[in-house]
Amino acid sequence: ARKHKVTIIGSGNWGSTIGKMVAENTAEHTDLFERDVQMWVYEEDVEVDNKSKHYNESNELCKGPQKLTTLVNTFHENVKYLPGIDLPHNLIANPSLTDAVKNSSILVFNLPHQFILNLCKQLRGHIKPFARGISCIKGVNVKESSISLFSETIGEELGIYCGALSGANIAKEVAEEKFSETTIAYDPPPMDSRTPTPATSQGPSPVSSHVDLTKLAHKDVSGKPSKVRLHPLPSEYQPIDHETIKKLFHRRYFHVRVVSDVAGVSLGGALKNIVAVAAGWVDGLGWGDNAKAAIMRVGLLEMREFGNRFFPNTVQPDTFTVESAGVADLITTCSGGRNHRCAKLSIQEGKSIEEIEARELNGQKLQGAMTAHEVATFLKSQKAEKDFPLLTAVHNILEGRGKAEDLPDLIEPEDSG
Ligand code: NAD
Ligand code: 13P
Repeated sequence: ARKHKVTIIGSGNWGSTIGKMVAENTAEHTDLFERDVQMWVYEEDVEVDNKSKHYNESNELCKGPQKLTTLVNTFHENVKYLPGIDLPHNLIANPSLTDAVKNSSILVFNLPHQFILNLCKQLRGHIKPFARGISCIKGVNVKESSISLFSETIGEELGIYCGALSGANIAKEVAEEKFSETTIAYDPPPMDSRTPTPATSQGPSPVSSHVDLTKLAHKDVSGKPSKVRLHPLPSEYQPIDHETIKKLFHRRYFHVRVVSDVAGVSLGGALKNIVAVAAGWVDGLGWGDNAKAAIMRVGLLEMREFGNRFFPNTVQPDTFTVESAGVADLITTCSGGRNHRCAKLSIQEGKSIEEIEARELNGQKLQGAMTAHEVATFLKSQKAEKDFPLLTAVHNILEGRGKAEDLPDLIEPEDSG
């Protein structure tokens, strides 16, 4: 059988960490995957500093700005976005997006959500039509009154099936191989289960000359028939099923549960970033653990209600309370995440979150404030703001139409007397 070539699209803090684990796994499962994993890097000039394991004043590469891809491929360390962590030598940094995805059958999308649409435009026409994707992106795609998950957006933009990975996964801890769990939602159409296509008896063939693609639409996460006409995986490839997906991501220190609820997993990852901003404010105010637990409780209820209300045909409400992508991610992000930390500092220093982000994160990108604005826009279009008081309050406070000190009143349900 033909092996899967895997490409990681994105190389930030989490992108590089996922790249590390995937490359460790492809090296162990060479029956299934090509050993080398391409990692697309948004190229930039970077100066190596003493956070890097390879900082050495006499090394030419440490004497001035260098291409990030050169540094990753020489030091096997992402000195800017994941300093201090050894990356496997079979993880290859590539500044060319189209070259990095060439001939790949598995694409792992992992970059801040604001860059995805532009990236998909660049990818169109350059990927294998039968490729399958996994989105590790935490965010939602809002266009005026419509909302979609990035797995769906990627699927529609590129005409492929895309699942979602999300969990309680602060990148640095995972990269240091401290134990964590994650949830992967992967629910490909039935055509991906290995029933032989007519091409099988002729041996390997290019994609689907015998398959009527118009019959291969699948359901999107809202339960409606998707516009995407999927191309079947050619029969010479091993199927990309739950087992394959698990082999690609699971590590001794990174336990994977594969489920089918793409909507629940994606929404958990996106919405908890908004709750983390409120939790950071509460910690910045010095209100203690009870206050933060209250924010998290209300946040969890709103996350679950959001799924039930807007993705009623597919979301499994239990995902929010049972899976790492739900309550566990909420807890970890409200304790040690970047959204929480920057929101906390913004209150303590009386500065905007954006100012703190620029100063503290060295190019890493917060998702919480932007997601709060996007979700509030969507809720407004649905006239549903009053049913999501915490999600709405975070947006209003960020816009200067309220104060974090007023959160207890702002999240009180209207009919509570
Ligand atoms: P990051 O916060 O480290 O962001 C920096 C990345 O953005 C860099 O790779 C940079 O090259 C890239 N970038 C900057 N400008 C760009 C542009 N114009 N076009 C394309 N790329 C550009 O990113 P991350 O931590 O890898 O996050 C990716 C996703 O993973 C996010 O949705 C995040 O919520 C999620 N996530 C992050 C963590 C974490 O702990 N970092 C954990 C789980 C999930
Ligand atoms: P932050 O982006 O707030 O650091 O959250 C990381 C995360 O998603 C942990 O699961």
